Amino acid sequence: MFKTDLLADKVIVVTGGGTGLGKSMAVRFAELGAKVVLASRTLENCEKAAAEITQAGGAALPLRCDVRDYDSCEAMVKSTVGAYGKVDALVNNAAGNFLAQTESLSPNGFRTVVDIVLQGTFNATLACGRQMIAQGTGGNLLAIVATYVDTGSAYVVPSASAKAGVLAMMRSLAVEWARHKIRANAIAPGPFPTEGAWARLVPPGMGDSFEMFAKNRIPAGRYGDHRELADLAAYLLADGSAYVTGDCVYIDGGEHLMSGDFNALTQFDQQALGQMFAAMRPAKKQ
Ligand code: COA
Repeated sequence: MFKTDLLADKVIVVTGGGTGLGKSMAVRFAELGAKVVLASRTLENCEKAAAEITQAGGAALPLRCDVRDYDSCEAMVKSTVGAYGKVDALVNNAAGNFLAQTESLSPNGFRTVVDIVLQGTFNATLACGRQMIAQGTGGNLLAIVATYVDTGSAYVVPSASAKAGVLAMMRSLAVEWARHKIRANAIAPGPFPTEGAWARLVPPGMGDSFEMFAKNRIPAGRYGDHRELADLAAYLLADGSAYVTGDCVYIDGGEHLMSGDFNALTQFDQQALGQMFAAMRPAKKQ
Protein backbone atom coordinates (compact mmCIF):
# COMPACT_ATOMS: atom_id res chain seq x y z
CA MET A 1 0.00 0.00 0.00
CA PHE A 2 2.89 2.38 0.75
CA LYS A 3 6.47 2.91 -0.37
CA THR A 4 8.72 1.27 2.21
CA ASP A 5 10.37 4.60 3.09
CA LEU A 6 7.07 6.38 3.82
CA LEU A 7 8.12 7.18 7.42
CA ALA A 8 11.90 7.15 6.89
CA ASP A 9 13.82 8.65 9.82
CA LYS A 10 10.70 9.79 11.66
CA VAL A 11 10.92 9.25 15.40
CA ILE A 12 7.54 8.02 16.60
CA VAL A 13 6.62 7.41 20.24
CA VAL A 14 3.79 4.92 20.82
CA THR A 15 2.34 4.74 24.33
CA GLY A 16 1.07 1.28 25.18
CA GLY A 17 3.37 0.18 22.36
CA GLY A 18 4.37 -3.19 23.81
CA THR A 19 1.15 -5.06 23.13
CA GLY A 20 -2.09 -5.08 21.11
CA LEU A 21 -2.83 -2.37 18.60
CA GLY A 22 0.05 -0.23 19.90
CA LYS A 23 2.52 -2.96 19.04
CA SER A 24 0.91 -3.58 15.62
CA MET A 25 1.23 0.11 14.79
CA ALA A 26 4.85 0.27 16.00
CA VAL A 27 5.80 -2.79 13.94
CA ARG A 28 4.25 -1.25 10.83
CA PHE A 29 5.84 2.19 11.39
CA ALA A 30 9.24 0.49 11.71
CA GLU A 31 8.64 -1.47 8.48
CA LEU A 32 8.04 1.90 6.84
CA GLY A 33 11.38 3.27 8.04
CA ALA A 34 10.48 4.98 11.33
CA LYS A 35 12.49 4.78 14.53
CA VAL A 36 9.90 3.73 17.08
CA VAL A 37 9.80 4.19 20.82
CA LEU A 38 7.66 1.63 22.62
CA ALA A 39 6.57 2.99 25.98
CA SER A 40 4.36 1.33 28.56
CA ARG A 41 4.04 0.48 32.23
CA THR A 42 5.40 -3.02 31.59
CA LEU A 43 8.92 -2.72 30.22
CA GLU A 44 9.12 -6.46 29.51
CA ASN A 45 6.35 -6.23 26.89
CA CYS A 46 8.10 -3.30 25.22
CA GLU A 47 11.43 -5.13 25.23
CA LYS A 48 9.89 -8.18 23.55
CA ALA A 49 8.19 -6.09 20.89
CA ALA A 50 11.35 -4.02 20.32
CA ALA A 51 13.40 -7.21 19.92
CA GLU A 52 10.99 -8.41 17.19
CA ILE A 53 11.33 -5.09 15.40
CA THR A 54 15.13 -4.98 15.56
CA GLN A 55 15.39 -8.63 14.47
CA ALA A 56 13.39 -7.67 11.39
CA GLY A 57 15.91 -4.89 10.67
CA GLY A 58 14.01 -1.96 12.22
CA ALA A 59 14.96 0.54 14.93
CA ALA A 60 13.10 0.38 18.23
CA LEU A 61 13.66 1.65 21.76
CA PRO A 62 11.72 0.06 24.65
CA LEU A 63 10.98 2.36 27.60
CA ARG A 64 9.07 2.09 30.85
CA CYS A 65 6.59 4.92 31.10
CA ASP A 66 3.47 5.40 33.18
CA VAL A 67 1.45 8.04 31.36
CA ARG A 68 -0.40 8.89 34.60
CA ASP A 69 2.84 10.43 35.85
CA TYR A 70 4.04 13.58 34.05
CA ASP A 71 7.64 13.12 35.21
CA SER A 72 7.62 9.65 33.68
CA CYS A 73 6.49 11.16 30.36
CA GLU A 74 9.25 13.79 30.52
CA ALA A 75 11.80 11.05 31.17
CA MET A 76 10.43 9.16 28.16
CA VAL A 77 10.97 12.23 25.97
CA LYS A 78 14.50 12.71 27.38
CA SER A 79 15.45 9.10 26.64
CA THR A 80 13.95 9.35 23.13
CA VAL A 81 15.94 12.50 22.36
CA GLY A 82 19.04 10.87 23.87
CA ALA A 83 18.69 7.86 21.57
CA TYR A 84 17.31 9.37 18.38
CA GLY A 85 17.86 13.14 18.71
CA LYS A 86 14.23 14.29 18.37
CA VAL A 87 10.52 13.43 18.63
CA ASP A 88 8.49 13.75 15.42
CA ALA A 89 5.26 12.06 16.44
CA LEU A 90 3.35 10.77 19.42
CA VAL A 91 0.67 8.10 19.21
CA ASN A 92 -1.52 8.30 22.30
CA ASN A 93 -2.58 4.68 22.44
CA ALA A 94 -2.27 3.72 26.13
CA ALA A 95 -5.72 3.19 27.65
CA GLY A 96 -7.65 1.49 30.40
CA ASN A 97 -11.21 0.26 30.27
CA PHE A 98 -13.63 -2.24 31.80
CA LEU A 99 -17.33 -3.03 31.62
CA ALA A 100 -19.39 -1.91 34.61
CA GLN A 101 -22.91 -0.82 35.45
CA THR A 102 -22.40 2.84 36.26
CA GLU A 103 -24.42 2.74 39.48
CA SER A 104 -21.93 0.17 40.79
CA LEU A 105 -18.84 2.27 39.98
CA SER A 106 -16.90 3.96 42.74
CA PRO A 107 -15.56 7.49 42.17
CA ASN A 108 -12.10 5.91 42.24
CA GLY A 109 -13.10 3.45 39.49
CA PHE A 110 -14.11 6.42 37.30
CA ARG A 111 -10.94 8.32 38.22
CA THR A 112 -8.73 5.31 37.47
CA VAL A 113 -9.81 5.15 33.82
CA VAL A 114 -9.87 8.94 33.35
CA ASP A 115 -6.38 9.15 34.87
CA ILE A 116 -4.94 6.76 32.28
CA VAL A 117 -6.94 7.86 29.24
CA LEU A 118 -7.48 11.62 29.64
CA GLN A 119 -4.82 12.78 32.09
CA GLY A 120 -2.35 10.25 30.64
CA THR A 121 -2.91 11.51 27.11
CA PHE A 122 -2.46 15.08 28.33
CA ASN A 123 0.78 14.22 30.15
CA ALA A 124 2.34 12.46 27.15
CA THR A 125 1.07 15.17 24.78
CA LEU A 126 2.44 17.98 26.94
CA ALA A 127 5.87 16.37 27.34
CA CYS A 128 6.18 15.55 23.61
CA GLY A 129 4.54 18.81 22.51
CA ARG A 130 7.03 20.92 24.50
CA GLN A 131 9.87 19.00 22.85
CA MET A 132 8.35 19.44 19.36
CA ILE A 133 7.92 23.18 19.94
CA ALA A 134 11.52 23.48 21.18
CA GLN A 135 12.81 21.56 18.14
CA GLY A 136 10.96 23.92 15.83
CA THR A 137 10.58 21.22 13.20
CA GLY A 138 6.86 20.59 13.64
CA GLY A 139 5.23 17.43 14.90
CA ASN A 140 2.34 15.07 14.75
CA LEU A 141 -0.06 13.97 17.48
CA LEU A 142 -2.38 11.04 16.97
CA ALA A 143 -4.85 9.69 19.52
CA ILE A 144 -6.59 6.33 19.43
CA VAL A 145 -10.11 6.98 20.67
CA ALA A 146 -13.25 4.86 20.12
CA THR A 147 -16.33 4.99 17.92
CA TYR A 148 -18.39 5.98 20.97
CA VAL A 149 -16.65 9.39 21.28
CA ASP A 150 -19.67 11.09 19.72
CA THR A 151 -22.49 8.91 21.01
CA GLY A 152 -21.25 7.74 24.41
CA SER A 153 -21.86 4.11 25.34
CA ALA A 154 -23.59 2.18 28.09
CA TYR A 155 -21.37 0.30 30.56
CA VAL A 156 -18.15 2.17 29.69
CA VAL A 157 -19.00 5.63 31.04
CA PRO A 158 -15.48 6.44 32.32
CA SER A 159 -13.90 5.46 29.01
CA ALA A 160 -16.53 7.22 26.89
CA SER A 161 -16.15 10.41 28.96
CA ALA A 162 -12.35 10.30 28.82
CA LYS A 163 -12.12 9.47 25.10
CA ALA A 164 -14.50 12.34 24.25
CA GLY A 165 -12.13 14.58 26.22
CA VAL A 166 -9.14 13.23 24.31
CA LEU A 167 -10.80 14.05 21.00
CA ALA A 168 -11.56 17.58 22.23
CA MET A 169 -7.90 17.86 23.29
CA MET A 170 -6.63 16.84 19.84
CA ARG A 171 -9.01 19.24 18.09
CA SER A 172 -8.08 22.10 20.42
CA LEU A 173 -4.36 21.53 19.85
CA ALA A 174 -4.85 21.19 16.08
CA VAL A 175 -5.72 24.89 16.19
CA GLU A 176 -3.50 26.12 19.03
CA TRP A 177 -0.31 24.36 17.94
CA ALA A 178 -0.77 24.80 14.18
CA ARG A 179 1.56 27.82 14.53
CA HIS A 180 4.26 25.31 15.57
CA LYS A 181 3.46 23.10 12.57
CA ILE A 182 2.10 20.45 14.91
CA ARG A 183 -0.88 18.45 13.63
CA ALA A 184 -3.32 16.56 15.85
CA ASN A 185 -5.75 13.87 14.71
CA ALA A 186 -7.60 10.89 16.09
CA ILE A 187 -8.56 7.44 14.93
CA ALA A 188 -11.79 5.86 16.18
CA PRO A 189 -11.45 2.10 15.79
CA GLY A 190 -14.39 -0.29 15.90
CA PRO A 191 -13.74 -3.86 17.03
CA PHE A 192 -10.15 -4.97 16.43
CA PRO A 193 -9.55 -8.10 18.51
CA THR A 194 -6.64 -7.85 20.97
CA GLU A 195 -5.89 -10.07 23.93
CA GLY A 196 -6.08 -7.20 26.47
CA ALA A 197 -9.26 -5.52 25.27
CA TRP A 198 -11.11 -8.77 24.61
CA ALA A 199 -10.37 -10.07 28.11
CA ARG A 200 -11.85 -6.85 29.54
CA LEU A 201 -14.68 -6.16 27.16
CA VAL A 202 -16.13 -9.54 26.13
CA PRO A 203 -18.12 -11.10 28.98
CA PRO A 204 -16.79 -14.58 29.91
CA GLY A 205 -18.62 -17.44 28.18
CA MET A 206 -20.26 -15.01 25.78
CA GLY A 207 -17.46 -15.05 23.21
CA ASP A 208 -19.42 -16.78 20.42
CA SER A 209 -22.72 -14.92 20.84
CA PHE A 210 -20.88 -11.62 21.32
CA GLU A 211 -18.96 -12.27 18.12
CA MET A 212 -22.13 -13.10 16.18
CA PHE A 213 -23.92 -10.05 17.62
CA ALA A 214 -20.95 -7.81 16.85
CA LYS A 215 -20.48 -9.10 13.34
CA ASN A 216 -24.19 -8.68 12.56
CA ARG A 217 -23.85 -5.03 13.53
CA ILE A 218 -20.91 -4.42 11.22
CA PRO A 219 -21.90 -3.73 7.61
CA ALA A 220 -18.51 -5.07 6.46
CA GLY A 221 -19.43 -8.35 8.24
CA ARG A 222 -16.12 -8.84 10.03
CA TYR A 223 -13.76 -7.48 12.65
CA GLY A 224 -10.91 -5.18 11.68
CA ASP A 225 -7.42 -6.38 10.86
CA HIS A 226 -4.59 -4.75 12.83
CA ARG A 227 -2.72 -4.01 9.62
CA GLU A 228 -5.67 -1.91 8.36
CA LEU A 229 -5.54 0.30 11.43
CA ALA A 230 -1.74 0.50 11.37
CA ASP A 231 -1.82 1.65 7.74
CA LEU A 232 -4.36 4.37 8.52
CA ALA A 233 -2.14 5.58 11.36
CA ALA A 234 0.90 5.50 9.03
CA TYR A 235 -0.97 7.66 6.52
CA LEU A 236 -1.88 10.21 9.21
CA LEU A 237 1.76 10.36 10.38
CA ALA A 238 3.19 10.68 6.86
CA ASP A 239 4.08 14.02 5.29
CA GLY A 240 1.58 13.39 2.49
CA SER A 241 -1.33 13.99 4.88
CA ALA A 242 0.04 17.37 6.02
CA TYR A 243 -3.27 19.16 5.39
CA VAL A 244 -5.27 16.77 7.57
CA THR A 245 -5.57 18.07 11.12
CA GLY A 246 -8.20 18.12 13.84
CA ASP A 247 -9.91 15.18 12.23
CA CYS A 248 -11.18 11.90 13.64
CA VAL A 249 -11.20 9.01 11.19
CA TYR A 250 -13.57 6.12 11.92
CA ILE A 251 -12.27 2.68 10.97
CA ASP A 252 -15.02 0.25 11.86
CA GLY A 253 -16.46 -1.36 8.73
CA GLY A 254 -19.37 1.11 8.97
CA GLU A 255 -20.47 -0.04 12.46
CA HIS A 256 -21.07 3.46 13.89
CA LEU A 257 -23.63 4.19 11.17
CA MET A 258 -25.88 1.30 12.13
CA SER A 259 -28.18 3.40 14.32
CA GLY A 260 -29.99 4.69 11.18
CA ASP A 261 -33.71 3.79 11.41
CA PHE A 262 -33.78 1.30 8.56
CA ASN A 263 -30.30 -0.16 8.73
CA ALA A 264 -31.50 -3.20 10.68
CA LEU A 265 -33.43 -4.25 7.56
CA THR A 266 -30.10 -5.19 5.96
CA GLN A 267 -30.22 -8.31 8.19
CA PHE A 268 -33.46 -9.51 6.55
CA ASP A 269 -33.76 -11.80 3.54
CA GLN A 270 -33.20 -9.37 0.67
CA GLN A 271 -35.57 -11.05 -1.77
CA ALA A 272 -38.42 -10.99 0.75
CA LEU A 273 -37.55 -7.38 1.56
CA GLY A 274 -37.74 -6.43 -2.14
CA GLN A 275 -41.18 -8.05 -2.41
CA MET A 276 -42.35 -6.26 0.73
CA PHE A 277 -41.18 -2.87 -0.57
CA ALA A 278 -42.89 -3.55 -3.92
CA ALA A 279 -46.15 -4.43 -2.15
CA MET A 280 -45.99 -1.17 -0.17
CA ARG A 281 -45.61 0.95 -3.31
CA PRO A 282 -48.81 2.85 -4.23
CA ALA A 283 -50.38 1.82 -7.55
CA LYS A 284 -49.45 4.10 -10.46
CA LYS A 285 -52.05 6.75 -11.28
CA GLN A 286 -53.61 6.22 -14.70
N1 COA B 1 -15.61 -2.81 37.63
C1 COA B 1 -15.81 -1.81 38.53
N2 COA B 1 -14.79 -1.16 39.15
C2 COA B 1 -13.53 -1.53 38.83
C3 COA B 1 -13.24 -2.55 37.90
C4 COA B 1 -14.36 -3.21 37.29
N3 COA B 1 -14.18 -4.18 36.39
N4 COA B 1 -11.90 -2.67 37.79
C5 COA B 1 -11.37 -1.76 38.62
N5 COA B 1 -12.35 -1.08 39.25
C6 COA B 1 -12.18 -0.03 40.25
C7 COA B 1 -11.63 -0.63 41.53
O1 COA B 1 -12.66 -1.17 42.35
C8 COA B 1 -10.95 0.56 42.16
O2 COA B 1 -11.86 1.41 42.81
P1 COA B 1 -12.02 1.38 44.45
O3 COA B 1 -10.67 1.71 44.99
O4 COA B 1 -13.06 2.43 44.76
O5 COA B 1 -12.46 -0.01 44.78
C9 COA B 1 -10.43 1.33 40.98
O6 COA B 1 -11.20 0.90 39.84
C10 COA B 1 -8.97 1.07 40.73
O7 COA B 1 -8.80 -0.33 40.57
P2 COA B 1 -7.35 -0.98 40.45
O8 COA B 1 -7.51 -2.43 40.14
O9 COA B 1 -6.53 -0.59 41.64
O10 COA B 1 -6.77 -0.19 39.17
P3 COA B 1 -5.45 -0.42 38.39
O11 COA B 1 -4.81 0.91 38.24
O12 COA B 1 -4.63 -1.55 38.96
O13 COA B 1 -6.00 -0.93 36.97
C11 COA B 1 -7.58 -0.79 35.18
C12 COA B 1 -6.58 -0.06 36.06
C13 COA B 1 -8.74 -1.20 36.04
C14 COA B 1 -8.07 0.18 34.11
C15 COA B 1 -6.95 -2.04 34.56
O14 COA B 1 -7.92 -2.72 33.80
C16 COA B 1 -5.76 -1.72 33.68
O15 COA B 1 -4.67 -1.50 34.20
N6 COA B 1 -5.95 -1.66 32.38
C17 COA B 1 -4.93 -1.28 31.41
C18 COA B 1 -5.10 -1.91 30.09
C19 COA B 1 -6.49 -1.86 29.56
O16 COA B 1 -7.46 -1.68 30.26
N7 COA B 1 -6.61 -2.08 28.31
C20 COA B 1 -7.91 -2.14 27.70
C21 COA B 1 -8.03 -1.26 26.59
S1 COA B 1 -9.62 -1.51 25.88
